[in-house]
Amino acid sequence: MNKRLKRALPLREVYRFLETGPVVLLTTARQGRANVMAMSWHTMMEFEPPLIGCVVSERDHSFAALKATRECVINIPTAGLLPQTVACGNCSGARVDKFAEFGLTPLPASKVAAPLVAECPVNVECRVVDTRFVKFYDFFVLEAVKAWIDGRGPGPGRWRKLDTIHHMGMGKFMVAGRTVATGSRMP
Ligand SMILES: Cc1cc2nc3c(=O)[nH]c(=O)nc-3n(C[C@H](O)[C@H](O)[C@H](O)COP(=O)(O)O)c2cc1C
Repeated sequence: MNKRLKRALPLREVYRFLETGPVVLLTTARQGRANVMAMSWHTMMEFEPPLIGCVVSERDHSFAALKATRECVINIPTAGLLPQTVACGNCSGARVDKFAEFGLTPLPASKVAAPLVAECPVNVECRVVDTRFVKFYDFFVLEAVKAWIDGRGPGPGRWRKLDTIHHMGMGKFMVAGRTVATGSRMP
């Protein structure tokens, strides 16, 4: 590889190449009011019980609800929900009832007060289990306590592939594409 073929990648653009996890809709509920925001800065940290780390900025209305209630739901939207997902990421629940405004349906969760988004085929109810990095990075560690998948697929472990959406920055998204099976021994 010839180094001269390389050009500097601005550090502020690094996330665009690493951030391939799906954009999710994070729901919270505080004092009877549900809210929903788009979130793509999240990472798996443990298989079971699943631990998920995520950055919820202090500037987001959701931050205070997540910090106070220590509960949320991670909802995974598919390509048909892209407009609503982007809309939820571009306005504040302090001013807008995003469920009503963007036609999203809240469903009661089983273990947390935050609602599931009915239109999302996968929903993961979570509790905050570690806030030590919140003061440095707005980074919360969540434990999944209950998860749901649309019953319309062929069954557990054999669900249809989801056309999840993946943020690339600058108003661009990838929709999950080809699946390649390698026979890896990873779970
Ligand atoms: C595609 C996309 C991904 C986003 N990812 C995050 C994220 O990971 N963390 C975050 O704090 N904000 C993220 N945002 C911004 C929030 O969704 C946005 O600030 C939202 O308005 C917050 O809503 P709230 O004030 O009602 O909580 C993202 C926005 C978009 C459009």
